[in-house]
Amino acid sequence: MEVLLAKSAGFCFGVKRAVDRVYELAQTSAKIYTYGPIIHNEEVVGDLEKKGVSVIETKEELRQIKEGVIVIRSHGVAKEIYDQIEQQGLECVDATCPFVKRIHNIVEKESANGKQILIIGNAGHPEVEGIMGWSSTPAMVAECAEEIEQIHCNPDQPVCIVSQTTFNYNKFQELVEIFEKKGYDISVVNTICNATEERQTEAKEIAAKVDAMIIIGGRHSSNTRKLYEICSRECADTYFIQTLDDLHLDLPKSVRLVGITAGASTPNKIIEEVQNYVRINF
Ligand code: F3S
Repeated sequence: MEVLLAKSAGFCFGVKRAVDRVYELAQTSAKIYTYGPIIHNEEVVGDLEKKGVSVIETKEELRQIKEGVIVIRSHGVAKEIYDQIEQQGLECVDATCPFVKRIHNIVEKESANGKQILIIGNAGHPEVEGIMGWSSTPAMVAECAEEIEQIHCNPDQPVCIVSQTTFNYNKFQELVEIFEKKGYDISVVNTICNATEERQTEAKEIAAKVDAMIIIGGRHSSNTRKLYEICSRECADTYFIQTLDDLHLDLPKSVRLVGITAGASTPNKIIEEVQNYVRINF
């Protein structure tokens, strides 16, 4: 069996940076907390827990902490979380991905300049929640054509449109085009991260070539689900797995070439395991 492994599979730059930082901090004597799981990967989060790194999920939990280091993960958080950490006199290690930080800066500046903020993305995603928290006025969020249609802005105020970093580029363009027809004064900043675009393009190319395609990633990882969606359109035999244990493949003899890619939160170790397993067992 031949395996085609995507070069862009696994940790992106921002996630690697954040995970490495937490592992470094775990070696110090300070008590470490991450605001939300550092990545969407149960194995890594479990491993860090054994090293004494705890996860806090809410502002209320943050309020209970008397001392220690709070790590902001690559998704970033709202401005009020930084303020609260400071108020409590805790140390903050900011591992927000620079590409996400760029969006915070744009939103903060443009909203302060009187623009309305429209975020193309999933309102329930922590990255989008964080971005919303940098706008001085309530930001609007839309992720599909119906939601864009429902949005009504103040016609006298310009609108600045940004995107969740992991959003699909074509879908972003499509939604911007629908919004343009409403006649508002808009400025569009494409804040989609290249890592996502590259991973999606490569996944699509590989899926179109192979007989079966394996996508590795966490169940809650939106970028992994998107990879699955894209690959399923190109290759009918596309599988979504979290770890090697989920891989119960019964591939027909006609399958000669298997493609593998993985979401941004998938450690290399798991990718290697799956790759070796497929090479050896089929
Ligand atoms: Fe950053 Fe892009 Fe990864 S925004 S966290 S490098 S997907």
